Amino acid sequence: MTDQLATVADRIRRARRLTVLTGAGISAASGVPTFRGRDGLWRQYRPEDLATPEAFEQNPRLVWEWYDWRRGGIADCRPNAGHDVIAAWSQNHPQCRVITQNVDDLHVRAGTCNLTRIHGSIWELSCWNGCGAASWRDERVPLADLPPRCSECGGLARPAVVWFGEALRGEDLRAALGATSCDVFLTVGTSAVVSPAARLVHDARRGGAFTAEINPEETPASTAVDVAIHGGAEAILPRIAALI
Ligand code: OAD
Repeated sequence: MTDQLATVADRIRRARRLTVLTGAGISAASGVPTFRGRDGLWRQYRPEDLATPEAFEQNPRLVWEWYDWRRGGIADCRPNAGHDVIAAWSQNHPQCRVITQNVDDLHVRAGTCNLTRIHGSIWELSCWNGCGAASWRDERVPLADLPPRCSECGGLARPAVVWFGEALRGEDLRAALGATSCDVFLTVGTSAVVSPAARLVHDARRGGAFTAEINPEETPASTAVDVAIHGGAEAILPRIAALI
């Protein structure tokens, strides 16, 4: 493992363009549940009941109750040492891009620059009717009224997150695909099964990047990357940073 850490540190030190992709695992040590882990959300709930446009259409109140409950769980969570290392790289490395699938905004709270939240933010709302209102931030926990309403048209508001069956915002997809043109690509704390995030590490590798994964468990990406480091991001990232 020491050799692997030194290799990754050396590659990051020499990289002109560094890209970090993160998933729920980066926030696990902060107390945010993952989706597919032992106590993961998708082991207790069915995504099709709570995280699709059809579910919202059928029962907006139920969907909002679930999101309000998740917001309550995340509100007191703080960024951990893994978020802090990535934030420092994003501030100090000449060209560092961070792509996250997480909606918890812990990367934002850690002060991460050049961040693309491809699945949106649980702290932002948008108009369900698409009346043209820009999405807005509401950090109240719990929310005052469920389901909340659009301040422009008075119709239903929705969480500004990407649900199953929905496309990513065009600009986010472009940023994510563009970030695969890099010298080093790190995939951190993601099960690497949800598209299009799952393909990014493969694109980067095909483009000639050095690729590394940080995850306590094997994933479909583990055998494809140059180095797979088994461990928690909150412990491994500070060790790599210390070697740079
Ligand atoms: P998953 O729950 O699928 O995977 C979390 C990964 O984090 C697993 O591979 C764990 O082994 C790993 N992990 C756990 N603890 C860790 C730690 N301390 N350090 C590093 N890794 C750790 O979460 P995602 O891959 O983020 O989408 O899931 C992708 C998407 O599926 C989510 O954004 C969400 C979900 O459905 C939407 O809601 C659209």
